[in-house]
Amino acid sequence: MRQTDSSTSGTVLLTGATGFVGRELLWRLVRQPGNRVVCLLRAKNDAEAAAKLAHVLDQARPEPLTAEQRARATVVRGDLTEEELGLSPEQQDELAASVHRVIHDAATVDWATSLETARQINVEGTRRILELAALAHARGVLRRFDYVSTCHVCGRRRGRIAEESLDDSEGFFNHYEQSKFEAEQLVRSSALPFATFRLSSVVGDSRTGYSSTFKVMYWPLKMLSRGMAWVVPADRRGIVDIVPVDYVCDALEALSADMSQRGKTFHLAAGPEHSSTIGELLDLGVKTFRVRAPLLVPPSVFFYTLRPLLFLITWGKRREMLRKGRVYVPYFSFRAPFDTSQARAVLDKLGLRPPLVQDYFQKLIDYAIASDWGKRPPNVAAVSVPAGGAERRP
Ligand SMILES: NC(=O)c1ccc[n+]([C@@H]2O[C@H](COP(=O)([O-])OP(=O)(O)OC[C@H]3O[C@@H](n4cnc5c(N)ncnc54)[C@H](OP(=O)(O)O)[C@@H]3O)[C@@H](O)[C@H]2O)c1
Repeated sequence: MRQTDSSTSGTVLLTGATGFVGRELLWRLVRQPGNRVVCLLRAKNDAEAAAKLAHVLDQARPEPLTAEQRARATVVRGDLTEEELGLSPEQQDELAASVHRVIHDAATVDWATSLETARQINVEGTRRILELAALAHARGVLRRFDYVSTCHVCGRRRGRIAEESLDDSEGFFNHYEQSKFEAEQLVRSSALPFATFRLSSVVGDSRTGYSSTFKVMYWPLKMLSRGMAWVVPADRRGIVDIVPVDYVCDALEALSADMSQRGKTFHLAAGPEHSSTIGELLDLGVKTFRVRAPLLVPPSVFFYTLRPLLFLITWGKRREMLRKGRVYVPYFSFRAPFDTSQARAVLDKLGLRPPLVQDYFQKLIDYAIASDWGKRPPNVAAVSVPAGGAERRP
C-alpha cells in the first residue's frame, strides 16, 4: 500500500542543481509550498555560487518562478571532491539539524573520463554525501536519501536487466558506468532510508522539447541531421531506451514520496514495452531531416578495417566526429532491455507512463534546431527542416 511521506515539506539538500536533470528537479521542488531547497554547488566563492543558482532559477520552465518560489532555494558552496565536501563544521551541523531529504544527483557523466576522476566525483563524492546524510539520520531528521544513478551500471551484460540486480560480472564499457556501479554499492550498504533511481538516456521535455543539454542521444542525431553520419557502426536491432526529463522527474518524485518503497532500486526507463531500436530511430531521423540513410556496418568491421581507413582520408570536422563518436559505439548495438516492473507497480496506478519516443521526437528536434543544438537561445519561429535536404545551419 502507498504510504506517502506525511511531512512532505521540509529542507531538501539537492546536488547537481545546475545540471540537466538537477535543474528540472529544483524547479519542481521550489514550486511546492513548505519546501526549502539547499543546493550544494561548486564555485570559486560564495558570490559565484549565488550567481549560478540565480541563473538556474532564471531559466525555469515551463513558466517562470514567482519571487516566493525563488526564495525557497538557497545555496551552499561545496564540492564532491573535497574532504567534508568543503563545508565548515558549522555548515555541516546546520545541515545535519535540518535536512529531511537528500537528492544526490551530481556526477560526472563524461563517458571518456579517467577512472581516477570518475571515482573522485562519483564514488568518493557519494561517500561524502552519505556521511553528511548519516549525521542528519543520526539526529532523527533525515527521512529520505534519493540517489540518481544510471541503468548502465549493468555494463556489458546482455538480456533483461532487473531493477534490483547489481552485477559487474561482464565488466563495463567505460569508467563512468563503473563509478556509478561502485557508488550504488555504497548507497545500498548504508543504513539510510535510500531509494536508487536509475535513468536510461534522458532527453528534453516531451511537451515542449526543451533541453538544457545536447549530449547523449543528441550528438548522433546532430551528425545525422548534418548529413555527416554516412557510415555508422551499429546494429539495427540495438535497443535505444530513451526517456524525457519531465517523465523522469515526475516518476522520481512520485516514487520518492512513497515511504513503502524505501530500500529499492527503480529503472526510470522506457523499458521493453516503450523503448525503440537503432533502426526505428534512424528511420525517424532520416524522415525528419530528409537525409540519406547511413550505411550500417558491424562495429568489429568498422573498427578493424573502416575506421583506420577513414582516419587517413578524412580531416577537420569529419575526423573529429570519428574521434568523438567512439564513446557512443557500444550503445549502437546494445542488447539489454531495462526491466521496469518495480517502478511500474507504483507508477501505473498513478497514471505515470513513459511516452513513446515517436510521439514527441519532432518536438525534441524542433527545439534542438531552434537553439542550434544548444549554441544559442531558441528562436522557435525559425524552426524548420528545409525541403529536400539536411538541416541548414543559420
Ligand atoms: N542525462 C542523462 O541522460 C542521464 C542518464 C542516466 C543517468 N543520469 C544521471 O543523472 C544525474 C544527472 O546527470 P545530468 O545529465 O543532469 O548531468 P550534468 O548535466 O552534467 O550535471 C552534472 C551536475 O553535477 C555537478 N557536479 C559535477 N561535479 C561536481 C563536483 N565535483 N561537486 C559538485 N557538483 C558537481 C555539476 O555542477 P557544475 O555546474 O559545477 O558542473 C552539475 O550540476 C547523474 O547522476 C547521472 O549519472 C543522467
